Order: sequence, then structure tokens, then C-alpha cells
Amino acid sequence: MVRSRIAGIGKYIPPHTVTNHDLIQYMDTSDEWIQERTGIRERHYAHRTEETTTTMSVEAARIAMERAGTRAQDIDFIVFATLSPDYYFPGCGVLLQRAMQMKEIGALDIRNQCSGFLYALSVADQFIKTGTYKNILVVGSEKHSFGLDFSTRGRNISVIFGDGAGAVVLQPTEEQEQGILSTHLHSDGESAELLAMYNPGTHANHWAARNYAAFNESEIGDMFMSHAMIDNAQNFPFMDGQSVFKKAVVKFPEVIKEALNANGLAPADLKLLIPHQANLRISQFVQQKLQLRDDQVFNNIQHYGNTTAASVPIALCEAWEQGRIQKGDLVCLAAFGSGFTWGSALLKW
Ligand code: UT7
Repeated sequence: MVRSRIAGIGKYIPPHTVTNHDLIQYMDTSDEWIQERTGIRERHYAHRTEETTTTMSVEAARIAMERAGTRAQDIDFIVFATLSPDYYFPGCGVLLQRAMQMKEIGALDIRNQCSGFLYALSVADQFIKTGTYKNILVVGSEKHSFGLDFSTRGRNISVIFGDGAGAVVLQPTEEQEQGILSTHLHSDGESAELLAMYNPGTHANHWAARNYAAFNESEIGDMFMSHAMIDNAQNFPFMDGQSVFKKAVVKFPEVIKEALNANGLAPADLKLLIPHQANLRISQFVQQKLQLRDDQVFNNIQHYGNTTAASVPIALCEAWEQGRIQKGDLVCLAAFGSGFTWGSALLKW
């Protein structure tokens, strides 16, 4: 049976580091609060004008392709996950295709926020398994720093997020003991407004009756974009952090166990769990719930913050670069976030 395997992996972290102390000049926060609640010590921000979500993805993709021994003209499909695209439309997939001077291949954009990379990987996996494509570039990239509310009003969100990109080249393998064993995707739109950016959008208050705190009809109005939206900071993300946290600590273990059960495996079999880097406390909770040792869970949120669709490939890349993943190792990737959407992938490296 043909499976897909990660033939090359790369990451790009913009050089500009922003510590918790740096954020104090913009908002009422503290290093203690941020570290205690999230584990984050610093994050990286893209250059405001010279770097975009797409340009960062190009850097990560170049490394992944070099490590896979693949040239731009060999790539036959792109799957690009982001919630911070260069343009509202078209998506970043075509911008990456253009920047890398690839052939007129298909480019698919994924809008699944924190679980975006898992969704992207799963789609690519199906194309490889059916024999449709042989070299798929799967990317997660985010330039959050351009779209956050840096006033005290937005502090529960803005201290968490960071910028960066990760990419893999997926190829077929016929080796028995290698590749993606299974992927598992889920959603529950019941809580869509608990972690969302409402504007600009076409909702025209249609969902306001659901009575979410961030909906204020007089401020949102019936425009795609208005001065009032901007004046009232309605163009920034909204998050009910505690509700998201509570759901995350249930769904992460659930979807990881689902992946293990589907393959007749147990948590003890895992070499490494790479959870989406949402909050160090969430990862620690998941570790405890699954009774995993410290060396079985990879965390790097301390240095990069939460990079949403980029966090899983960045963490996977860093773990691999540090020698923590060797050929034949069982690795589980898992994510949960806005939507809510969540997912996992189990693979043999
Ligand atoms: O990756 C996508 C998925 N996202 C997640 O998984 C995030 C899940 N949620 C979380 O990680 C946590 O809920 C947060 C880190 C976002 C917030 O931590 P929390 O312990 O849930 O804090 P809270 O929102 O309940 O706020 C507690 C207090 C509030 O003050 P009062 O009302 O108690 O006086 C906030 O105003 O902390 C205040 N606060 C802050 N204080 C200093 C909120 N943000 C900050 C801040 N600095 N940055």
C-alpha cells in the first residue's frame, strides 16, 4: 500500500524577537502573568513591510524542498494553511506558486486556523495515497503581528501570538514501516464565535442573536467594513479564553487516543507527541492525561508563542533538527482551535 511520508521539512522564524517585557510598553501586562498563564517568554514578529505570510512560507518551503531533494518544478500541488493571508482573496497558495516560479499546479488554501496544518496534511495525504500527486508542498504560515490589538483591551490575545512558517514536502513511500498511518479531523461549529475575527465579513449581524459578548449591533452594523468597526476595534480577533481552554483539554487527548486506537497503539508507544503550541498549560494537561513522560512531548511555545497554522510544522521541524525524531519513530501531531476544529495525525518517521 502506498503511504505518504514527509520527505523534507523546513521552518522560518523571523529574526525580530519580542519579549514579554517588550509588550509592557504597549499594554498593561507583565512577564509573570504571561509566563504563568501561557508559558510564553518571547515570540518573533515579521518585518512589518518586508515580510508577509507568503514570503515567510517561501523561506520554509525552500528548506523543506532542499532537504527533500525536490526542485520547484517537481512540486505538483500546494496546500497552504493560514488565518492571516496576504490578501482577503486570493489566498496565499497562488502567491507561493508565483514566488517560487512553479508550474501551473493546483494551489489549495485551508481555513482551519490552529488545526489548519493538520487539515492541510490530511488533504495532501489523500492525494498521495490515491496516486494523484507525487510531490506536495504543505505549508502553515502566519503573520499575526499585523492584525493584533496591542492596547490593553486586546491583551488576552495579543500576548499569545507570534509569527513564523513551517513547510513539508509530502511524497509517496512503499516502505511498510514509514509514513502517515492515519489522520483524524473534527469540527463543532456550535462555538464558532468563541474564537473568531468577525470583521470584515458578510454576516451583517446575522448571528448576533447568539448573544456573544463581542457582538454589538450598533458597532458592527450591516457593512462589510466601516469606520465604526475600526473605531471599536471590531476588526481584531476575539477569544473567550477560558471556554477555549476547557474544550481544548478534552479534545486534545480524545483525538490523540482516536489516532492511537485506530492503529492498535497506546500512548506508551509514542516517541514524540507534537501538540499545537496554544498554551504550555494545555500541553502539560494533555501530557498528564495521557500519562506521557516529559521526553515524549515537544514544546517550544516558550520561544515562539502560538503561531496557529505554523505551530505544528515549526515544532516538528525543530524536534527533527534537534535529533529527537529518528527513522521509524512513532510521532503524533495534534491540534485544536477556532471553529472549533481539531485533528491528529499519526506517523512513522
Ligand atoms: O490556539 C488557539 C486556541 N487558543 C487557546 O487554546 C487559548 C486557550 N485559552 C488560554 O490559553 C487562556 O484562557 C488565556 C491565556 C488566553 C487567558 O488565561 P486565563 O487564565 O483564562 O485568564 P482570563 O482570560 O480568565 O483572565 C484572567 C484575568 C482577567 O482579569 P480580571 O477580570 O480577573 O481582573 C484579565 O483581564 O487576567 C487578565 N488578563 C491579563 N492580565 C495581564 C488577560 N490578559 C492579560 C494579560 N496580562 N496579557
